[in-house]
Amino acid sequence: MAQDDASPGGPDLRQGVALAELADGGKLAGHVGGDAVLLVRRGAEVFAVGALCSHYHGPLADGLVVEDTIRCPWHHACFDLRTGEALRAPALGPIACWSVEQRDGMLFVGEKLTRSKPEAGEAASGTLGRIVIVGGGAAGFAAADRLRREQFQGSIVILSDDDAPPVDRPNLSKDYLAGQAPEAWLPLRGASFYAKNAIDLRLNASVTGIDVGSRTVALADGGTVPYDRLLLATGAEPVRLTIPGADLPHVLTLRSLADSRAIIERAATARRAVVLGASFIGLEVAAALRARDIEVHVVAPDERPMERILGAAMGDFVRALHEEHGVVFHLGETATAIDGHRVQLSGGGALAAELVVAGIGVRPRIEIAERAGLSVDRGVVVDACLETSAPGVFAAGDIARWPDPRSGERIRVEHWVVAQRQGWTAARNMLGAREAFDAVPFFWSQHYDVPINYVGHAQAWDELAIEGDIAARDCLVRFKRKGEVQAVASIFRDIENLEAEVALERRGGLGASTEASLGRFP
Ligand SMILES: Cc1cc2nc3c(=O)[nH]c(=O)nc-3n(C[C@H](O)[C@H](O)[C@H](O)COP(=O)(O)OP(=O)(O)OC[C@H]3O[C@@H](n4cnc5c(N)ncnc54)[C@H](O)[C@@H]3O)c2cc1C
Ligand code: FES
Repeated sequence: MAQDDASPGGPDLRQGVALAELADGGKLAGHVGGDAVLLVRRGAEVFAVGALCSHYHGPLADGLVVEDTIRCPWHHACFDLRTGEALRAPALGPIACWSVEQRDGMLFVGEKLTRSKPEAGEAASGTLGRIVIVGGGAAGFAAADRLRREQFQGSIVILSDDDAPPVDRPNLSKDYLAGQAPEAWLPLRGASFYAKNAIDLRLNASVTGIDVGSRTVALADGGTVPYDRLLLATGAEPVRLTIPGADLPHVLTLRSLADSRAIIERAATARRAVVLGASFIGLEVAAALRARDIEVHVVAPDERPMERILGAAMGDFVRALHEEHGVVFHLGETATAIDGHRVQLSGGGALAAELVVAGIGVRPRIEIAERAGLSVDRGVVVDACLETSAPGVFAAGDIARWPDPRSGERIRVEHWVVAQRQGWTAARNMLGAREAFDAVPFFWSQHYDVPINYVGHAQAWDELAIEGDIAARDCLVRFKRKGEVQAVASIFRDIENLEAEVALERRGGLGASTEASLGRFP
């Protein structure tokens, strides 16, 4: 996603604008010196905040105001209009706030406000000594960051078996892989962040076991680390190909920064690539390789890409979009063997490729939870507060199967924003908050210049209502079950996607008492 470096437009808000120009609930974009500033009116009050989202500079002027907050149109971050605080991931940092003076029917923006540190919560100042987080990904990083923001004074240890610090994983298959974003954009925070916040980030540290009795984790190098609270955030790993030739050096998968670098290295000399699987990641890889001018063939058993998640019409659109960019599909086929630089297909054909990327799904990394005797069911089972069956041990992100208050079913999703938000909830609950995780799931995917936003969770639907024109890249697709909207996918209908999120939130679920009891362990 390109960063917006254009100098801010609109009126100079220090010179004043008429209050009448700003309707109640309205927004007005302008600038204060070199800063893009957004005015938002809520009744008699007017707020002035930074106009660009702290995640990827999304234009908050196109976002949705919900009570005293504003939500970003691109990936649904949410900011407090009074304090600028990031209330929801994927934004990790705040936006700035300015003072606003109302005089003679005019609004004048004054000084940038300095941020005050939030008070330490009761739990945060308590007696917990050490919180250990297994996993340096979306959920693990978000939890550590949140713990410090909650003013937790004890020690925080992140154990990650990756050799890279926490990175912006979604970018590994998008602009970075396409050669359109520098590697400097990838770390979620620079090295100084960990030192400054006394977060003991241990890389190449593989956790092999948990002893829930003595409250220690065991490391592959023989060491142990004691904990008072433990967060498991081990994510998922790519399903490996098992066909002959799967272990050849030019056959790769994509999960980590090292994986993305390896694809880039091979792409430097490859002329032809085969992507196995028409999943989100597979197709984002296809788009990135096309941006590098590599011939790309996608082989997948499905009739259409992404049909199971997005439905037939969106699936057809995604296929056509990739074909427009030169991708060749081999649907209804699988690879049966990789023989040197030839990929053999189940239909009898073969494709030449100097690079093969397998995007055939992921599986949650639940082995250590399983071995420790935690309750597992195609994921680590957690209660509404994200605590596992072992008291004091929490789980978040791709591994967590939690009780969804809307459907009443336990669900597990593999979305960046959900992992981060669960990391935040788990962090607060490790400090004793006992908050139910009730966020509506959201994900986005980017194919060339077309973003697809999806909010909600529709495991199955009996009606698909399409508004607008998918082919014209202006649509909203509602996935309904028994007449009720379960999820909404959209292309360039950001505000409606945000409104759908609010509607799903407000519809609520099974009621607070049911929600709290859902998933409680006997
Ligand atoms: C290339 C790519 C692109 C994506 N794009 C999008 C997107 O556009 N939108 C979207 O919503 N989602 C996207 N996703 C999915 C999203 O990244 C995941 O849902 C999210 O990262 C899950 O967060 P997590 O913290 O659960 O796991 P991860 O981010 O995978 O982190 C898990 C961490 O645990 C570590 N770990 C695992 N086991 C151990 C162990 N035993 N000991 C020590 N450390 C361990 C791993 O090294 C890793 O650091 C993408 C995923 C990939 C791979
Ligand atoms: S740019 Fe605002 S949430 Fe991503």
